[in-house]
Amino acid sequence: MTTAEPPVLEMRGIRKAFPGVVALDGVDLTLHAGEVHMLLGENGAGKSTLMKILSGAYRKDAGEIRVLGRDVDIQSPRDALALGIRVIYQELNLVPHLSVAENIFLGAAPTRGLGVIDWRRLFGNTSRLLNDLGMDLAPATPLHRLSLAQRQMVEIAKALKDPSTGSGQVAKILVMDEPTSALTSREVDRLFALIARLIAGGVAIVYITHRLDEVYRIGHRVSVLRDGRQVATKRLSEVTVAELVRLMANREVGDHFPRQRTAPGAELLRVEQLGRRGALSDISFSLRSGEVVGIAGLLGAGRSELARVLAGADRSDAGRVVCHGQIVKFRTPADAIRQGIGLLPEDRKAEGLVAGLTVARNLALPHGRKLARAGFLPRGCEERFAEPIVKDLRVKATPTQPVRLLSGGNQQKVVLGKWLAGDARIFIFDEPTRGVDVGAKVEIYHLINRLTASGAGIIMISSELPELLGMSDRILVMCRGRIQAEFSAADATQERVLSAALGLAC
Ligand SMILES: Nc1ncnc2c1ncn2[C@@H]1O[C@H](COP(=O)(O)OP(=O)(O)OP(=O)(O)O)[C@@H](O)[C@H]1O
Ligand SMILES: [Mg+2]
Repeated sequence: MTTAEPPVLEMRGIRKAFPGVVALDGVDLTLHAGEVHMLLGENGAGKSTLMKILSGAYRKDAGEIRVLGRDVDIQSPRDALALGIRVIYQELNLVPHLSVAENIFLGAAPTRGLGVIDWRRLFGNTSRLLNDLGMDLAPATPLHRLSLAQRQMVEIAKALKDPSTGSGQVAKILVMDEPTSALTSREVDRLFALIARLIAGGVAIVYITHRLDEVYRIGHRVSVLRDGRQVATKRLSEVTVAELVRLMANREVGDHFPRQRTAPGAELLRVEQLGRRGALSDISFSLRSGEVVGIAGLLGAGRSELARVLAGADRSDAGRVVCHGQIVKFRTPADAIRQGIGLLPEDRKAEGLVAGLTVARNLALPHGRKLARAGFLPRGCEERFAEPIVKDLRVKATPTQPVRLLSGGNQQKVVLGKWLAGDARIFIFDEPTRGVDVGAKVEIYHLINRLTASGAGIIMISSELPELLGMSDRILVMCRGRIQAEFSAADATQERVLSAALGLAC
């Protein structure tokens, strides 16, 4: 990092208000070439909004932006692109039925005149780019066949392409808004290697994350936003994790993993030799009342597949599931819900929310009958139902706001809130704290405690090992569709779980 040259980017006094909320209130940000600048803050602090102003997606109300010492006026995404600003958004913007190559070069595909796509060049350019970036993806694969992590890789390749040559690295400023939220440790390592290469080439990176372990692994400096204000910019060598948490939350967050173990009760669920061709084989385990069973594994190990089979979203073709002592067969998710099984899916944006409806309506959707039973008045009853959930999870929104206007993390909390208010006794949480800020993570852990104390059983899939170790009573490690190992909370260590997940013996 050098400070002699003018900074690559200076944002000064940036202000942006939306109806009813000041998202940014005079924020400064300076970026140097070759720097990874971490941008931290709780859900709704204004991080994505600041980056959307930089990328031309939003117009600022006030403030100045300088690139390489020169005043610039960014009015549209096109202006930002021309300045070498590339943003990888928190929400993926890809087209499911198009191929990897078409998605990467969307609107910029090489043509043979008259708008006819030159497929050979398109695929050739894509292969070269993916190679440059060290990504193991086939250009012709349709996007809907890829996992969430692979889609994130496509989004990164899209941001880093040079449309004219088909290879990477025209970006001067690269913004990554929670790029690892869907990645497992191995992909994260790959992404970090890529980042190291990019900064060595002089790119400046703004990196937004809620995973504090990443902050120290790749960051040089950090800026913290709180309620639209910039509360600090520091070198990471001069600030501790505890200080960062205090800066973000402005309150004591407490024990990071407050698991209160209860003696396990009756068996809620038993899975015997469950299989699904090509995805799962010989899966056997049980879940008892009051338990949290964690599931570890790498991408493609079959964790989300298991969740989908248990929740009736996919069918099994071998073995059986015993629920509350009875053999059950799920044909649809509704069958599983009737047995009291609630799934918090991995891809919550697609499966969990109706974007145009209010927070209250989304929370109340699965509970219509229950609300009527409880004798609420129709008028305002959804709001009243929603209020305590919004408060419990610290959702930064009012019940009457449409969910599409909420920040990414706050949307996640609403999906979680939907289930917590229901009648389910068996919960399958697939990455429950992904994209959620430090304070809210602890709130979710408290909710997990409350659920198990009241007799529920929880299957928790997580790629964050500290969370899995901190909150599970037992940990199953999956590898290539099988359960590779099982550890009790007392025996599990990061190294043991990881080596089982890597399949060192499978
Ligand atoms: N288009 C919009 N219309 C109205 N309000 C908005 C809009 N975009 C963002 N907001 C509000 O601005 C505030 C800041 O949101 P932003 O998305 O920048 O937060 P964030 O720091 O990125 O949070 P997260 O960590 O959850 O992604 C929030 O209160 C959000 O609801
Ligand atoms: Mg955001």
